[in-house]
Amino acid sequence: MKFDYFSNRITVRNFNGRHIPDEKLTNIIERAMHAPSCGNMQLYSVIVTRDPSMKTKLAAQHFNQPASTGCDVILTICADFNRFSRWCKLSGAKPGYDNFHSFITALTDAVIFSQQIVTIAEMEGLGTCYLGTVNYNANDISNLLELPELVVPVASLAIGYPKGDEKQVERLPVRAVIHNEKYRKDSDQETLNLFKDKEEYPDNIKFVKENQKASLASVFTDIRYPKEMNEAVSKSFTKLLKIKKFL
Ligand SMILES: Cc1cc2nc3c(=O)[nH]c(=O)nc-3n(C[C@H](O)[C@H](O)[C@H](O)COP(=O)(O)O)c2cc1C
Repeated sequence: MKFDYFSNRITVRNFNGRHIPDEKLTNIIERAMHAPSCGNMQLYSVIVTRDPSMKTKLAAQHFNQPASTGCDVILTICADFNRFSRWCKLSGAKPGYDNFHSFITALTDAVIFSQQIVTIAEMEGLGTCYLGTVNYNANDISNLLELPELVVPVASLAIGYPKGDEKQVERLPVRAVIHNEKYRKDSDQETLNLFKDKEEYPDNIKFVKENQKASLASVFTDIRYPKEMNEAVSKSFTKLLKIKKFL
């Protein structure tokens, strides 16, 4: 059977130190810009961080995750209504994009653009890792990168050439995700069954043991993504949206 990139792709967190030429990175970003965008407004920008001292500072905002310290370049993709609003003003038109709806629109464009970068980079033999920590320290990242009004970081990518020691991780069964015509009402047992393979996946069993938890679910709720942390990040991100005039 033909090799299927999509069924085989993996996140890469360990890189071999090889440099990605600027032209290669620019070419990837330029091709990713063919991603669909709302009204073809292209409401995104990407900050390329290569300079070692900037990279050290930015990686610290990502809690020095190994992918952020060991990669060749960090891309911070921003929802950006600044450029478009400015163009409107300079053209004598009145922009109305300082609101939450416009943030969602720009966020959507930026996330689609990000994933397009990931796909093209991976197809070009590079490894990528999203850094979800971009949300946690969005205010400090925004200051570090000197982001103006109507520009908010929404995705970060660590990119480099892979070391080659990553392996694929499990997925839910397709049935969990597909709902025909209307949202299916699963019984409690059916819901538990959807997560059965995930719970039996050897790395997850190890994860539960290492964290001394009673279940995989509680590793998520108590350690990886606890309520207090979600609420604190919500609060600081809301503050940033206000500072950047989206709220
Ligand atoms: C929004 C988002 C945030 C993520 N944040 C992190 C992160 O902070 N650190 C990390 O190592 N991986 C991160 N990842 C990668 C996921 O852990 C990874 O995609 C998932 O475990 C599935 O693994 P796979 O991509 O190898 O199939 C993130 C992925 C997404 C989409």
